[in-house]
Amino acid sequence: MTFTRISHFSLFFSSFFFLSSTLSSHLYPASATTPEKDGKTRSLYSEILRDEAVARLNDLGKVSDADGYLERTFMSPASVRAGFLIREWMEDAGLRTWVDSMGNLHGRVEGMNASAQALLIGSHLDTVVDAGMFDGSLGIISAISALKVLKSIGKLGELKRPVEVIAFSDEEGVRFQSTFLGSAAVAGILPVTALKISDKSGVTVQDALKGNSIEITEDSLLGLKYDPASIWGYFELHIEQGPVLEWVGFPLAVVKGIAGQTRMKVTVRGSQGHAGTVPMSMRRDPMAAAAELIVLLESLCKHPRDFLSSGGNCNEQTLESLSTSLVCTVGEISTWPSASNVIPGQVTFTVDLRAIDDVGREAVVYELSNQMYKICDRRSVSCIIERKVGRFPKHFAKHFA
Ligand SMILES: *[C@@H]1O[C@H](CO)[C@@H](O)[C@H](O)[C@H]1NC(C)=O
Ligand SMILES: [Zn+2]
Repeated sequence: MTFTRISHFSLFFSSFFFLSSTLSSHLYPASATTPEKDGKTRSLYSEILRDEAVARLNDLGKVSDADGYLERTFMSPASVRAGFLIREWMEDAGLRTWVDSMGNLHGRVEGMNASAQALLIGSHLDTVVDAGMFDGSLGIISAISALKVLKSIGKLGELKRPVEVIAFSDEEGVRFQSTFLGSAAVAGILPVTALKISDKSGVTVQDALKGNSIEITEDSLLGLKYDPASIWGYFELHIEQGPVLEWVGFPLAVVKGIAGQTRMKVTVRGSQGHAGTVPMSMRRDPMAAAAELIVLLESLCKHPRDFLSSGGNCNEQTLESLSTSLVCTVGEISTWPSASNVIPGQVTFTVDLRAIDDVGREAVVYELSNQMYKICDRRSVSCIIERKVGRFPKHFAKHFA
């Protein structure tokens, strides 16, 4: 969390206003009037959109599985408690609620035409470890609050299409290392094999659901898919999670797309030995090799033009896009046997690589792997580069922007 306290409040205020005005301009039938505006405060419904919403964000920010920091993973006790709270708030806003067999919580209002294409609004109710309190919660709470305003002025039934708020059970993938279990099920792109993925203690996704009295079968999973023809659009308000808006002084911006992502696991094996007896010239030290690989990653991602030529896999447009959007991170590193007086035998680290341009991202992964293998050869260590889940970039609908 990098926002200051003051910018939090201006962010809320403008985002809620933005969401309410989005709802009213797109969803009211032409004949209906927009909410009356007798005074700025009144027109923004500050009790619901600001005071209550901020209180709810604070409340939800305390629902954690850990002591002293925020953590809610898929189907954990805190996630279930958070679900109860959100469900209450949804019902308070006049929504019909249910939990689906992947643990997603839905709240829906049909409006005037139950068979019209629905607007989905939502975000995730799970969190990363030591999460900020706005991550995910903001998108759920703001949607509920906007609808509650419509209910309070008697307009909820006048929506010209159904509106459905979804609190997704899993986005972050902390527990099962498999992101988007919740939304992927609704999108119909979650393979049924996902039910058998297990967490660190051997509990599968299916078991975790069952532990909370939710029965999921392969068939019911497939049945969660929403027919794209029944959906008008999906809208999500999300905290920026970066420093740029605050730096340029904007409270709010429209996201044009989501970067594609490649995750890799790099395993470097050398020869384990005693820190006091193996001479430097005889070492094959995977720790020093990993350090060089990580610095290579940083250089490549900071200056992709120095590594990729426009004659090769990349055209000028791709190179330009990479130089503004490519970000690469090593966030986790583990060594064996991890003792201060032992030259490690093995070092493993993760790579998270993101860019909005797919071709560019592939070119970077290719070049990175080549250069990494060269370093490993030169150092006589063995390197294995595994690609984990990838994610394609997504460019958003222009009519929302
Ligand atoms: C309701 O929506 C459906 C699907 O878009 C449309 O065919 C139908 O005409 C709508 N009904 C009314 C009364 O607007
Ligand atoms: Zn998030």
